[in-house]
Parts: sequence; C-alpha cells; structure tokens
Amino acid sequence: MKKAAVLVVTIAAAAVFATLLTHQVPVSAATPNQPVYKADGKLTLPANYREWVFLTSGLGMNYSTGTGGPQLFTNVYVSPEAYREFKSSGKWPDKSMYVVEIYSPATHGSINKGGHYQNAYMGLDIEVKDSSRPQEWSYYNFNPGESMAAAFPAGNGCLKCHSENAAVDHTFVQFYPTLLDFAVGKNLIKPGVSIPLNLTRFQKIVLDSGWEKAEQAFYEDRKKNPESDLLDLHSLQMLAGYLENQNRAGDALKVMALATRQWPTLALPYEELAQRYRNASQPELSLETSRKELALLDSDSTLSDAQKKRLREMAEKRVAELSKK
Ligand code: HEC
Repeated sequence: MKKAAVLVVTIAAAAVFATLLTHQVPVSAATPNQPVYKADGKLTLPANYREWVFLTSGLGMNYSTGTGGPQLFTNVYVSPEAYREFKSSGKWPDKSMYVVEIYSPATHGSINKGGHYQNAYMGLDIEVKDSSRPQEWSYYNFNPGESMAAAFPAGNGCLKCHSENAAVDHTFVQFYPTLLDFAVGKNLIKPGVSIPLNLTRFQKIVLDSGWEKAEQAFYEDRKKNPESDLLDLHSLQMLAGYLENQNRAGDALKVMALATRQWPTLALPYEELAQRYRNASQPELSLETSRKELALLDSDSTLSDAQKKRLREMAEKRVAELSKK
C-alpha cells in the first residue's frame, strides 16, 4: 500500500474509533444475545453461545434412580446480559437464555491414562425466559447439525422438573458454584429447595458465628440432608488446615474431633486429631486417639496398603514418644 493510502486508512480507522469512544457504544449492544425466532415460531440456535458465561460442567448427572448408558458430560452457559443482570439485581431478566451442551466421554486416545475427557458433541438443550411467548419459560432441544428447534409443548417434562426442583426461578443455581454463593448470600433460594452445607458455607459460619454455632449447623445439615457428601472428610481437613493458618489451632482441633465422631470407623481423622492433641500439649488424649487409630487401621477399607503403612508408622512413633514421657 502507498504511504498516502495508508494514511487515509489510518485516519478513517481513527475516526471510527473516536466515534465509538464518544458514543460509548459497547460492542455487544450491536448484537444482543436475545432469542431469535423464525416466522413459524422456531428458535434459532445462537451461533456464539460458546462465548457466553460458563456456569458449570457435570459428568453423568442423573435425576432418576435408573442408570445405563455412558456418563455424559454437560457444559452450561448463560447469555452475558442475563448473567450481569442476575449478579446485580438477583433476578433473571426477560430474554435470558441458557444452554446445556452434551458431550460423550472418553478415556484413551492420547497420553491420558485415567479419568475422562470430553469427546463427541451430542447436541444441546436451550431454556429461554421470554414473556412475549405463549409460555414464559420454554425449552428446546437441538440435535447435532440442527440450527432451529420448536419449543416443547406446555406440560412437558422439562418445564415440570425445572419449576419443581430448580433453586432460583426455573434455573438450577444449586449446581452452579459461583452463582450459588451469590444466591445464598442474597437469600434468593426458593423456600422448598434445601442447599446442603459445603466447605465455603461451613467455613463462613465458623468465622462469622464461632464454633458452637457451626457445630449446631453441622448436625442440622446432617439431619436435613443425610445423603449430602458436600461436607466430606476432605473438606473438614481443609478447614482445619485453614484455621491453623489463621492461628485458630483450638478450632482446628474441634473440627477434627467432630470428624472422628462423624466417621468413627475411619483412621485418618484420628491421626489428624492425635497430632493436634500432641501439639496442644495434651499427651494423654493424643495417646488415646493414636491407639484408636491403630485399632481401626486394618479394617479401614478406604485406605490403600501404602496409606495404612504410613499412618501406622506415624501413630506408632507418636505412641512410643508419648509413652516415654
Ligand atoms: C428431571 C429433571 C429435569 C428435566 C426433566 C430436565 N432438566 Fe434441564 N436441568 C436439570 C438439572 C438438574 C440441571 C442442572 C444441570 C447441571 O448442573 O449441569 C438442568 C439444566 C438445564 C439447563 C441449564 C439452565 C438451567 O435451567 O439451570 C437447560 C438449558 C436445560 N436444563 C434444558 C432442559 C430441557 C430443554 C429439558 C427437556 C428436554 C430439560 N432441561 C429437562 C434437570 C432437568
């Protein structure tokens, strides 16, 4: 390109840029992520949904007791406009759109030796909140290669399950970690939906309200959500470590004492508790706890042989040291 031509192009580009700046036009305003319908009422597949806000992925999620078939991956996205509005007002705005993509799983194929990664695209489901439509919340399924889909008729299974079980309006915020913390904090969860305690929520109670209240909340959660595995032994170990870093060794010890009561047949929480009793200069309790740990090791099927060997060595060493004193 000649110099003069380059200059003209540069000036033109600068002019466009300046216009954009002075008018403060956000790029997305030109292409809002809203539902687009054909004359026959079919929804058009939003071409750029992969650039939307990612909410979660699931593996083999299954809402009935029946099993069978491969464990499929799901990836959930929401339009950025809807996400922003929800995070500011706590409400899903009209024209909100959600996508759940489905992928088949694979394990072998390259250097991977275990676990699962996402393989073949199997289609997607879309949910739309749109007050201008016959149903305010409508549901669509797109098979691979399809770019249009008709809404499922009123009274279909999608709407029923979503309206009965979803935590916020028709959306399953209980499964979207970043939205869930926000929704719990703002009291947006529907009254009938129970949100079990997990590490973040439990830790917040410990820090804000103290150990006694936290322990109460723990047992209430066990009663209300007996099948929940959200606050597992690993979470309590993480919490105890965190509290120690915050100079709250006393609370960390209470966390592990709670863990031994909750999982009385597992050796690991006894090891963690015995170490903490020793550090807290309570040798008798440390000895007693170490002996319980040693008695449990053989029958603890959650541990590998190597893990058992390591725990045994640590407990025996501690018992020997403490018995000398
Ligand atoms: C038995 C209950 C159930 C039925 C029936 C159901 N879904 Fe869902 N749906 C869920 C759950 C649970 C999630 C959360 C998935 C996750 O965390 O990955 C979800 C998530 C979604 C999402 C992401 C946005 C949101 O609402 O959280 C879309 C879109 C969706 N489903 C569409 C559909 C469509 C379309 C149908 C009918 C063809 C359908 N669903 C049927 C339970 C159901």
